[in-house]
Amino acid sequence: MTTPTPISEVGRAQPASGILDEATLARLANEFFAALPGSGQPATSGIAALGRSEATSAPAVKTAAPISGSVPGVSAVSAPSGYAAALPRIGPLSEPLGAVPVAMPTHPYYFLAESSAFQSAPAGTPVPIAIAPASPPLSDTSLGPLPTEYPLPQARDSPGFYFLDPLQQRSLGAVPAAGLDAHPLFNVQAVRRDFPILAERVNGQPLIWFDNAATTQKPQAVIDRLAYFYAHENSNIHRAAHELAARATDAYERARSKVARFLGAASSDEIIFVRGATEGINLIAQSWGRANVGAGDEIVLSQLEHHANIVPWLQLAQEKGAKLRVIPVDDTGQILLEEYRNLLNDRTTLVTISQVSNALGTITPVAEIAELAHRAGARVLIDGAQAVSHLRVNVQALQADFYVFSGHKLFAPTGIGAVYGKSELLETMPPWQGGGNMIEDVTFERATYQKPPARFEAGTGNIGDAVGLGTAIDYVERLGLENIGRYEHDLLGYAMQGLQSVPGLRLIGTARDKASVQSFVLEGYRPEEVGSALNREGIAVRAGHHCAQPIVRRFGVEATVRPSFAFYNTCAEIDVLIRALHRLAHHIGRAKS
Ligand SMILES: Cc1ncc(COP(=O)(O)O)c(C=O)c1O
Repeated sequence: MTTPTPISEVGRAQPASGILDEATLARLANEFFAALPGSGQPATSGIAALGRSEATSAPAVKTAAPISGSVPGVSAVSAPSGYAAALPRIGPLSEPLGAVPVAMPTHPYYFLAESSAFQSAPAGTPVPIAIAPASPPLSDTSLGPLPTEYPLPQARDSPGFYFLDPLQQRSLGAVPAAGLDAHPLFNVQAVRRDFPILAERVNGQPLIWFDNAATTQKPQAVIDRLAYFYAHENSNIHRAAHELAARATDAYERARSKVARFLGAASSDEIIFVRGATEGINLIAQSWGRANVGAGDEIVLSQLEHHANIVPWLQLAQEKGAKLRVIPVDDTGQILLEEYRNLLNDRTTLVTISQVSNALGTITPVAEIAELAHRAGARVLIDGAQAVSHLRVNVQALQADFYVFSGHKLFAPTGIGAVYGKSELLETMPPWQGGGNMIEDVTFERATYQKPPARFEAGTGNIGDAVGLGTAIDYVERLGLENIGRYEHDLLGYAMQGLQSVPGLRLIGTARDKASVQSFVLEGYRPEEVGSALNREGIAVRAGHHCAQPIVRRFGVEATVRPSFAFYNTCAEIDVLIRALHRLAHHIGRAKS
């Protein structure tokens, strides 16, 4: 009897001629190289793609192309020439609306050199990119025609905005200035091709995803990694002697190590997988908080906090008879450090603070805040939900006792996130949920518990999505957080100047140190109306209170419109936004007159 040789790719169609197509050749080559000693990757197709992906560094495409064309209302802002691919590809207003063919690399994905089932556009196909519309595209024709001239924002004598200051006056904060040095940049159009959803059309227009603070889109590498996990590795972890349990456990624990490295933790034992930032903060409140916060103790937090970093502490304070003390912000949305200093005292048990505000984009001085908190004998929790996709984080440098973030805001799947906790704290903390996986021994009289992090991961976790999170981290690390920060810095500057040119538009959140999130209100419209009008243009922004009612109310409103940008957004997309807002403003202006 002969035993058929197992083949890994059963059912894969081959061309009838027997000549392998380009994608298959690429896959086989990758499998070959992935199987070489030291590649660190199993020789299977999905992983082969990841392996190559891991070995590929972001090509430094630095074109010197000048910005051509002009956009009423936004033309005075210079996006650096290094980002030429991201610049508005806009001609005169008479230029026909349509897709602009973009030079394609030889493979469709920036980090994946082979095609996959999820390929959004075959290699060589021009990818439509958003360009500013030439003829009035607003589906709501009641908004009227586009005004021909927009007033440009005036140069400011005393610069109020970090991003709009003359370069020589900038004091570089947490986000480095873009285009000023020789760091390699990335090719935004190539990066966009890694995100299949960006090729979607919404209401007949190319999707413009400016809702990144709510959630980010996922690169093909992450989508493929999930598919690979369920096709080749899926098993429950830690508790079986079989091969798939070993593969799944390895993949899950490798992801934990990636998170630890990404956050600058001392050990992967300091990383607990949770559903996201909300669950992470609840874990800390329920475990550390219940054990360490008592009657009369004080928890200091800022006016900027997301509800996820308010409600768990409110609940704990109510249960324990503790008090919340709130650090106010100034009119730009930056926290007032002097006021913070005055709040600290020997009853302060915890200072809990967002590194980046989700509503305003403010980057808070967390290192200084942590230092002052420690001097007062308090512990420090940093909510990094909005920070990790924009800034390089090092929890040890920041002196964080705890740090939380959500994977879905970092180009990873939903339902997965992480808590960092200093080992010496985690060791002393009781479990917050009981069940499988977290115990050492159980009788009907008592239970003893595993060491951290297992102690805090009761039940079957979100194994596949944790693995996807590891791949998302690989992705942003390959692009480089510094490159991302520089690029987004310029996008935000470009957007702020464009937004300022819209009559009746008020920016909310103008701190000098900001990530690429910008709230505003537009006279004559409720934020939801602006959100709906933009949606008709294919532009996704958030409109509402952003689960941060205290800070939105601090600025005298109940809701704002909030575009938030990621490294795959472009100046051309911002132009489409600005033009749509000009139409809305013009329409209200006409209605008034
Ligand atoms: C600053 C901040 N903290 C916490 C959260 C909660 O994150 P999640 O809903 O992913 O748990 C968010 C979500 O928007 C946020 O922006």
